[in-house]
Amino acid sequence: MTRQAWMFERDGELGQLFGHYLDSAATAQMLCAANDAMTHLDRGMRANVRRGGHRLGERTDELYEQARGTVARFLGTSAEQVVFTAGATAGLNMLAGSLCQCFGEGDEIVVTELEHHSNFVPWQQAALRTGAALKVWPVTSEGELNMLLLEQMITPRTRVVSVTQVSNVTGLVSDLTSIARRVRDVGALLVVDAAQAVPHGLMAEQADFLVFSGHKAFGPTGIGVLAARNGGLEGLQPVSFGGGMVAAVEQSGSTWVEMPWCLEPGTPPFSQALGLAAALDWLDRERAALEGVSRLTRLALDGLLSMPGVRVIGPHNRERMGIVSFTVDGVHPHDVAQVLDERGVWVRSGQMCAQPLMRALGLNAVVRASFAPYNTLADVAALLAGVDSSLALRG
Ligand code: ALA
Repeated sequence: MTRQAWMFERDGELGQLFGHYLDSAATAQMLCAANDAMTHLDRGMRANVRRGGHRLGERTDELYEQARGTVARFLGTSAEQVVFTAGATAGLNMLAGSLCQCFGEGDEIVVTELEHHSNFVPWQQAALRTGAALKVWPVTSEGELNMLLLEQMITPRTRVVSVTQVSNVTGLVSDLTSIARRVRDVGALLVVDAAQAVPHGLMAEQADFLVFSGHKAFGPTGIGVLAARNGGLEGLQPVSFGGGMVAAVEQSGSTWVEMPWCLEPGTPPFSQALGLAAALDWLDRERAALEGVSRLTRLALDGLLSMPGVRVIGPHNRERMGIVSFTVDGVHPHDVAQVLDERGVWVRSGQMCAQPLMRALGLNAVVRASFAPYNTLADVAALLAGVDSSLALRG
């Protein structure tokens, strides 16, 4: 694996702006292979997909469906169970909108305090609409899902459990095996937000449904995936409507084409699908690059733990998927991030779209550093030096 795999190395002007990018959990840099795949189509000449009989349309259809096949192989499911969406958020809204349609009083939807708002609010709103109860699974004081509550949280009333595979705040991996076993025992469905997991090569094998976004998995923006296992898509109903997903439209009603196309109304992000497939192909081939990410994450964690006044969120002895969030006593996280920014170290600060977790841990905000295969020891050193200099701001 070389750094030349990445787009940012190719672009002279923007390349010079590149400092120490430690915000890949928000958006990762894109692979050249992803850009090349999109350019190949867009420059070559493209046509809409599933819209007509001319040969260019057929060729675009073919490439789009090949991309779906690549995503399916990566995830270990079949192409018929892969839906291209606008991103993880769109996939979760689709699942909440569709799965909860027949829920009512007495039914329970389970989410956790760890969730990103994208995997919390759609279920909360579905519960409010349908009269189902939203149960929020608490974390421990250390910020891990409290597995002692497994049987209490997932009961015979549970219809769906939606959980993140990797926390976007702690980087810890959820125990999906235990959760899935309990979900099966009570006859519920398991939805997994794999947005922070897929970039680390994890594929939520235990999930009935999973979602992720292309821009965090080294692919383009504007695309994501909702995938099902065990024929799960057959249990969904379209919740958005338009061209391309209808079989027949009468004044009195309409019928849909088969899965997965009936869940892709309008023109889908077909160039981006090719880019995403190329990124996943790369991820599949370059598993070794992910070991480097784990090493850098550990070094950053150890370095931060050795600094007085720095508190790292989450247990310190567990593997993290490229994410370390922390606070500095007496210095607001935005101020720490500003000191880092001045040194060309780019991290995220704030609530990480995870207010329930912040509240559970008694935090207003955190600083988050996140790592990807293009990061180096120099990036970790710059982070640690920057945090060290932010200690001077303590009152
Ligand atoms: N979901 C993204 C993050 O955690 C934006 O930063």
